[in-house]
Amino acid sequence: MTDRFAIILAAGKGTRMKSPRPKVLHEIGGRSMLAWSVALAKDLGCKRTVVVVGPDMPQLSDAAARLVGAENVAVQRQQLGTANAVDAARDALRDADGHAIVLYADTPLVPKEAGERAFIEVEKGASVCVLGFKAKLPNRYGRLVTTGDGALEAIVEANDASEAQLAIQLANSGVMAGPAKLMFELLREVKNDNAKGEFYLTDLVGLARGRKLKAAVALCEERDVQGVNSQVELAQVEQVFQQTVRERMMAAGVTLPAPETVWFSHDTTIAQGVTIEQNVVFATGVSVESGAVIRAFSHLEGAKVGAGAMVGPYARLRPGALIGKNAHIGNFVEVKNVTLGEGAKANHLSYLGDGEVGAGANIGAGTIFCNYDGFFKYRTVVGANAFVGSNSALVAPVTIGVGGYVGSGSVIVEDVAADALAIGRGRQFGKEGWAKAFRDENSAAKKAGKKPPGAI
Ligand code: UD1
Ligand code: MG
Repeated sequence: MTDRFAIILAAGKGTRMKSPRPKVLHEIGGRSMLAWSVALAKDLGCKRTVVVVGPDMPQLSDAAARLVGAENVAVQRQQLGTANAVDAARDALRDADGHAIVLYADTPLVPKEAGERAFIEVEKGASVCVLGFKAKLPNRYGRLVTTGDGALEAIVEANDASEAQLAIQLANSGVMAGPAKLMFELLREVKNDNAKGEFYLTDLVGLARGRKLKAAVALCEERDVQGVNSQVELAQVEQVFQQTVRERMMAAGVTLPAPETVWFSHDTTIAQGVTIEQNVVFATGVSVESGAVIRAFSHLEGAKVGAGAMVGPYARLRPGALIGKNAHIGNFVEVKNVTLGEGAKANHLSYLGDGEVGAGANIGAGTIFCNYDGFFKYRTVVGANAFVGSNSALVAPVTIGVGGYVGSGSVIVEDVAADALAIGRGRQFGKEGWAKAFRDENSAAKKAGKKPPGAI
């Protein structure tokens, strides 16, 4: 196969976002828009990806360098238009022999299949192929002028279009593919004699046609190429992403009784046969295995939930929470960096941080792993089938042996041997009749208008 390359345009200032963060570093599904485009280029098998940034955007350049390597970050000195932006990648791609695709970093949801269709047209002989779509309201989009047989003749920007051209519904997504060398050759011929005085990438179509070369359109859906220019559009694109994932999950056999209330990340993996109740949030890095139930109002991040496990309602799984097969994590339980063995349970009001809980162990209500002394963190190990009574504080580093038993309300500061009992609290004592005597004395004093010393 011919080598593939990608050029991602990210030089826009994004002023309409009114955000201190560069526009394309805002996230969709927990991943920056820039990273979405880079991931698409990778999925398309691109050998190299060049990100075009503006000058004085250090945060963006650093992020781009981390994603594609500093040698693949190109700077467009001045914003002279999309053709000029692509031209900024000329140096980085001087040895590129193959086909190149231009992507906009603020258009994060282009599906792999759509990019593939554009490349395939080029592989079949088109000198330029753009992704087009039927726009509901084509307003500001460039219009695709086609001939009777559907071949692409030119792209006319809305500002430069005639009445008749404005009536065209077929719009330019901005994604364009072509042979890299030809693309850079044609770019030299682009002029800025148009309404905006910009160098338009879209002129490559007319230039190719002028040389009797073939130009093509590959079709995609409007929602696949929705761009982000403002916070409102960011939220709209997030909705499109969420809706797409929800539908994909349900089609794959995940039960979502209220899909519109469940939020996924770009990398969430949920197996067939999982039920996810209302208002659950999956931050990045979560996988859930078959038969597990994630109950309402739970928040999961960087966690693995094993087959048949039950999580929530109101559970919080933080990075490194590895919940074993058939284990239970109940309401108001927070788990961080803890492995729970098969069938282990922590059903109520607990913090389990840094450690492990063996198979079949039971963590009573209100148990806290005291993992931090203000300077360092330590691990708590609870052996298989151990029982930790309610309201216990396990002060790490500490180990409860296999089958060990901790009395409720204990503060455990020393290791507990396997099958041993440990109680770390004051011994209970009682006084017969004390409560009655106390009541009698005080009610008598109250009647007599007297107060015990110190009472107010
Ligand atoms: C462009 C297309 C239009 C298409 C539309 C789809 C051109 C001339 N027009 O118009 O046909 O329908 O996208 O959204 O290409 N950028 C730079 N440097 C520049 C100029 C732009 O990096 O000098 C980047 C922007 O940050 C943006 C992208 O290129 O991500 C597109 O630029 P924009 O100015 O939004 O183009 P449109 O006028 O929307
Ligand atoms: Mg635009």
